[in-house]
Amino acid sequence: MTDKFLDKVYDLGGNDPRDIYAKWSGTYDSEVSSHGYATPARCAKALSQFVPDLIEDVLDYGCGTGLSGEALRAEGFVNLHGFDISKEMLALADDKSIYSTLTCFDPEDGPPISKGQFQTIAAVGVIGVGAAPLSTFDLLMDLLPPEGLLVFSFNDHALADPTFEKKVNDYTEAGQARLLFKEYGDHLAGAGLKSNVYVLKKT
Ligand SMILES: C[S@@+](CC[C@H](N)C(=O)[O-])C[C@H]1O[C@@H](n2cnc3c(N)ncnc32)[C@H](O)[C@@H]1O
Repeated sequence: MTDKFLDKVYDLGGNDPRDIYAKWSGTYDSEVSSHGYATPARCAKALSQFVPDLIEDVLDYGCGTGLSGEALRAEGFVNLHGFDISKEMLALADDKSIYSTLTCFDPEDGPPISKGQFQTIAAVGVIGVGAAPLSTFDLLMDLLPPEGLLVFSFNDHALADPTFEKKVNDYTEAGQARLLFKEYGDHLAGAGLKSNVYVLKKT
């Protein structure tokens, strides 16, 4: 039985996202894959154009069950570090044996990551309605060192709220980041959803 959570996840209201991801974890991969979840591969491909050394550590922020990690591995990234707030999603990522480290954290405390620890950060399908708040974008930009790269996606639900794109524009217009890549394409094609994939370089 699939399709139980995709409708619900975009309508969390004030509920803790950990509750839905705890219940969804066991069927997440099959449900999103059945809809042709394309954003991880698009993000990984976009990022690979700008990272010459695939040995570099990559922070897979909001790694979930590891579908984003699998896509990064498929592009040749080998040192992946997954962080997520859902221990149930992380347990499934662990089963895939593709991460060097996996860390669960409480969103109220913030992730145990020091500034500049990761030169490259991915947040695939993470920031937006049904997952991490827009303030996560500021958090990740703050963690990056100068010249660091952030690949991330906003799906149609996030793009329907102009504050998401405005956030990106605010950084680029203020000279805090340079937009290296932006492409609108399939997200969950079977559910009729698309996403923007971005690669930003912090200045
Ligand atoms: C749609 S899933 C994407 C997972 C994975 N990146 C992928 O592409 O399949 C969203 C993930 O974001 C995580 N998440 C939700 N709120 C978060 C937050 N504030 N900080 C970090 N991760 C969060 C969820 O637990 C979930 O694993």
